[in-house]
Amino acid sequence: MKLLRRIANLGYGSRKQVTEMFREGRITHANGEVLYADDMLDEHARHEDVRVDGEPLDPPPGLLLMLHKPVGCTCSRKDQGQLVYDLLPPRFALRDPVLSTVGRLDRETSGLLLMTDDGVLLHRIQSPKGNIAKVYEATLARPLRGDEAKMFASGKLRLEDEPTPLLPAEMEVLEPQRARLTLHEGRYHQARRMFAAVGNHVETLHRASVGGLSLGDLPAGQWRALDEADRARIFTGMP
Ligand code: URA
Repeated sequence: MKLLRRIANLGYGSRKQVTEMFREGRITHANGEVLYADDMLDEHARHEDVRVDGEPLDPPPGLLLMLHKPVGCTCSRKDQGQLVYDLLPPRFALRDPVLSTVGRLDRETSGLLLMTDDGVLLHRIQSPKGNIAKVYEATLARPLRGDEAKMFASGKLRLEDEPTPLLPAEMEVLEPQRARLTLHEGRYHQARRMFAAVGNHVETLHRASVGGLSLGDLPAGQWRALDEADRARIFTGMP
């Protein structure tokens, strides 16, 4: 593939704009040599050796990243107010293939959000067959009654307008009005609706981990690209 095409597809600009960037000598090899619009990736430079204005080129297609989503931003491409895409470099919204969220978190939910441009990977993570545990921490409007964990684990709880019962889920009491909930599927507003089904109301909801991958010390609003070890954590469930 021509370097020009790769850089344009990463959202740095139209082909015309990227051609101009080459002309201006802004695209270089890590060793300082100027690269040219006609150069082929791999022949003249490996992706990781390319610099744009001295900065490493964004990750190639196959990108998987985690974002610490703050409360108040939306998992959508177009909406009013702040979007998760606003927390990434602006060119990420222009990448081809497109970068999508792996499932969604509600506007009012914070925590670990995965994003990828790899459709196969997206489906693998989202599919209930993968049985990837998602752990949420919820603060509640009322004290827990004591029977919630049993009901959530039963595999018989049916949410309003849902044709099938929920898969068994685990709940741990953290404080009288705080619980950790582990889900193995991702239905619409699932955690909030589960607590509503047992007479409570979720006041704050935070996703702490997906499989064995947790946010670690990633601050709210920040993101990082995931490497092979992180990917393995998602699927093995091991930290
Ligand atoms: N369950 C919810 O209710 N909301 C989320 O954002 C995620 C899971």
